[in-house]
Amino acid sequence: MSDTKRYTVTAALPYTNGPVHIGHLAGVYIPADIYVRYLRAKEKDVIYICGSDEHGVPITLRAKKEGVSPQEIVDKYNTIIKKSFQDFGISFDNYSRTSSKIHHQTASDFFKKLYDNGKFIEETSMQLYDAEADQFLADRFVIGTCPKCGNTESYGDQCEQCGTSHNATDLIHPKSAITGNIPSLKETKHWYLPLNEYEDWLRQWIVEGHKNDWKPNVLGQVKSWLDDGLRPRAVTRDLDWGIPVPVKGAKGKVLYVWFDAPIGYISSTKEWASNTGKDWEPYWKDKDTKLIHFIGKDNIVFHAIIFPSMLKAEGSYILPENVPANEFLNLEGNKISTSKNWAVWLHEYLQDFPDKQDVLRYVLTANAPESKDNDFTWKDFQARNNNELVAILGNFINRVTVLTHKYYNGIVPKKGNHFKELDKIAQFRNQIGQSIENFRFREASQELMNLARMGNVFLQEQEPWKKSKEDPEAVEGIMFTALQIAAALAHLSEPLLPFTAKKLSHILNTKHLAWDLVFVDQNQSLLEEGHSINASELLFEKIEEESIQQQLDKLAATKTQNKEEQKEIAPEKKVISFDDFTGMDIRIGTILEAEKVAKTKKLLKLLVDVGSDKRTIISGIAETYNPEKIIGQKVCVLTNLAPRKIRGVESQGMLLMTETKKGKLSFITPSDDDIHNGEIVN
Ligand code: MF3
Ligand code: ZN
Repeated sequence: MSDTKRYTVTAALPYTNGPVHIGHLAGVYIPADIYVRYLRAKEKDVIYICGSDEHGVPITLRAKKEGVSPQEIVDKYNTIIKKSFQDFGISFDNYSRTSSKIHHQTASDFFKKLYDNGKFIEETSMQLYDAEADQFLADRFVIGTCPKCGNTESYGDQCEQCGTSHNATDLIHPKSAITGNIPSLKETKHWYLPLNEYEDWLRQWIVEGHKNDWKPNVLGQVKSWLDDGLRPRAVTRDLDWGIPVPVKGAKGKVLYVWFDAPIGYISSTKEWASNTGKDWEPYWKDKDTKLIHFIGKDNIVFHAIIFPSMLKAEGSYILPENVPANEFLNLEGNKISTSKNWAVWLHEYLQDFPDKQDVLRYVLTANAPESKDNDFTWKDFQARNNNELVAILGNFINRVTVLTHKYYNGIVPKKGNHFKELDKIAQFRNQIGQSIENFRFREASQELMNLARMGNVFLQEQEPWKKSKEDPEAVEGIMFTALQIAAALAHLSEPLLPFTAKKLSHILNTKHLAWDLVFVDQNQSLLEEGHSINASELLFEKIEEESIQQQLDKLAATKTQNKEEQKEIAPEKKVISFDDFTGMDIRIGTILEAEKVAKTKKLLKLLVDVGSDKRTIISGIAETYNPEKIIGQKVCVLTNLAPRKIRGVESQGMLLMTETKKGKLSFITPSDDDIHNGEIVN
């Protein structure tokens, strides 16, 4: 770390086909933000680069679905995403867009240089084509069975189940995502990057060169691809949304989104440089710069294999030093999904919990999917807030500041005895720093919490409130020490909890301090004797059951809605004979009595008059019907169904019901009133 001149830190450019959710935050934007805030505190030369990924099929599909142009889609979501990042405190140095002029130019030039230097293979071949949509089918326009893992819903360029990246023609049983048609084949010309030629070099560079510093999940994926053997990859597409291929004979063709998007990191850097009067090139071309890509696991192949091969082919760029990829975050036990609306959307969170940025940041860090997929639950969110942020960190700060005002009118007292806790401040700082440098952000968050725990234990052991009368001098030393711990928390929490750090710095009336200067020894304190602090304020507040329930209700509503949308017309059953039909004895009856079956949610025990007799029927309708309300209800009953014991009661028949889309039941009743019990239905 010490000999690095500068850092270029990138976070995966989000697709502008929907807003950003907690999975994105936990996987990419929060860890990267912690990392750069830490580097800034270390006074390093660092830029944090991002922007909207505005090309690609997901955007075209979304536009089709909403019946608007792709441009309208990207404008809409770029605005939402950008604002939510800002309000959430993600501290990009630049947030650009791949639809910007500077990006089109940069990506175009990049392609042109590779083209001119003969780095591509030009090839005409048969590609999947949907005649009805008049569209070649690549990437997310085509769905089929993954040749590697058998997932039947793999996309044309990547299987989300096993992570394999492939060509659309590799899919087994391909189907158009636009029309559902089985595609035909049609000839078309494309340019391919011969990844196979980079295989040995990639193995050397990553598997040998980075075996000790890249995360195991990243190395594992890279090895498996290299072992399978790389093949040439098309870097152009037959589409009208994207960056036109800048060579002759490429009309109607654009750059593959995964060719242009990573170049977006470079164009966003250029934009930053031109806005700030800096030079962009050292950030991408000086070998003393460390380039670090924060991504999710579905992006590994693009950042560890394809983009580095592009950079290598271009020749003048540095390569990534590390590609810290996270696994996925689930939500309440289910995979987060933009299309199924199964997500906690950042912009909605900020509406529901304004001023609680750090709570989400903390929960997503403490529970980050660093080495395996993890689950976000609202209960855990509440527990981490109430039991950690409020009860440990908030509580410690509150005790220190309240007591300082009570005993000393807010003035830092004399140092007195040197407590060993003061020496631990530098140790905590080093541990937190080490964890962050090693991309272990969960660990860093827990170490920060441990520093606050140490403060609480210290006060608990020293009990200044018991000694304030008889030994005021000892209390001064205790409070001085506690105040130093509080100040250390203000400085060391900045990367992890920036809003809290700011608030705490204000309460303690202290200014920013370089990371390496956060320590206390004989000659230096973080808050000097005589320094006056501001009024005490609560850092965190308890989150009540009610607001958690609201979030759970919101998710439950999404589930219901999805079920409804998924419900299709049931397939036809197999043909039966007329005799099979007339064999069923269905007749009109009237419900005479109804009561709930104890300890069940769904069952009612009914007494039904079916003309010939009165019989007991157990029916699963209690979630729709109140027993009192259905006395006298006319119903259709299948009376010759073999009796069955349900919950110890013999049920002698079955009511005919329909089930609405929402799962609500409804009786089948005769439309005329003068139809009597026992009349046959046929
Ligand atoms: N938009 C892509 C995704 O959300 C990430 C693009 S990263 C970049 O998966 F490198 F291509 F920019
Ligand atoms: Zn697969």
